[in-house]
Amino acid sequence: MEMDLQEVQTFAIAIAEQAGEIVCKKRLEAKLSHEFKYGNELVTNADLAADKFISEEISKRYGSHLILSEELSPDIGNLQEIQESVWIVDPIDGTVNFAHGHNQSAISIAYVEQQQVKIGVVYNPFTKEMFSALKGGGAFLNDSPIRIVNEPALDRAIIATGFPYEKSNLEPMIQRLRVVLHHCADIRRLGSAALDICWVAAGRLDGYYESLCIWDFAAARLIAKEAGAECGHFSDVPEGIDPQFHPDDLLIANPVLYPELKRILGSAAEKETPLKSLG
Ligand code: IPD
Ligand code: CA
Ligand code: CA
Repeated sequence: MEMDLQEVQTFAIAIAEQAGEIVCKKRLEAKLSHEFKYGNELVTNADLAADKFISEEISKRYGSHLILSEELSPDIGNLQEIQESVWIVDPIDGTVNFAHGHNQSAISIAYVEQQQVKIGVVYNPFTKEMFSALKGGGAFLNDSPIRIVNEPALDRAIIATGFPYEKSNLEPMIQRLRVVLHHCADIRRLGSAALDICWVAAGRLDGYYESLCIWDFAAARLIAKEAGAECGHFSDVPEGIDPQFHPDDLLIANPVLYPELKRILGSAAEKETPLKSLG
């Protein structure tokens, strides 16, 4: 069933704000538990509490919708084959920042209807910045429209990226970092992929690249697209895979810089240098 998207967006914004209050409160209480899932991925009780709150609110309001959320239901099958509406939730993106008292963390919520991301909401409760977009309706920071900045020169551009928790295959990432750093003005590793992408949308960054999970980027990608960013990949998307859901080798940048970044990132991966010889 098609929904009134404005109404769904208002709801998504409201639950992101309320989840934000939960995570801020948990940090103030200074009772954060630190657990490591899969051996090295930090997860706190605030991640779990926010996920539970968001998932319960969605189920109460939209009982027939499915929920794909990082902590409570990370695997619901192939999004391209699901007929029902789906919510994609990262209860805290930037958990390491959150747990270390940094303020670059966000609640990320995307709404998918008929296999299309229709709504994206990314909320930083520490700065009270609400990034949002409804497909075809532009992107907003709080109530103001946002647009990318068309910086034309890569050597003036600030590019963000990130690194995975799993460190067994760092060489290609280091090689890409080396090549991009040579060409751009500077690099940022801010610690929240969802906010990195929203910062491209708001013109605070000129480009961003990384491999992620769907909950890290589903909402922010729509926000960046609606703000005029080019959203794609610096390697080929496998045949039959919908690019909007493909998490590997994401590249999001202003359309002027996009082709050059894609070229240098692509060529960096081709000529991988073993760590030992990096000097
Ligand atoms: C992480 C952040 C980080 C990115 C990692 C993600 P989490 O998400 O977005 O910036 O580099 O790849 O896993 O674990 O804080 O939700
Ligand atoms: Ca995340
Ligand atoms: Ca998370």
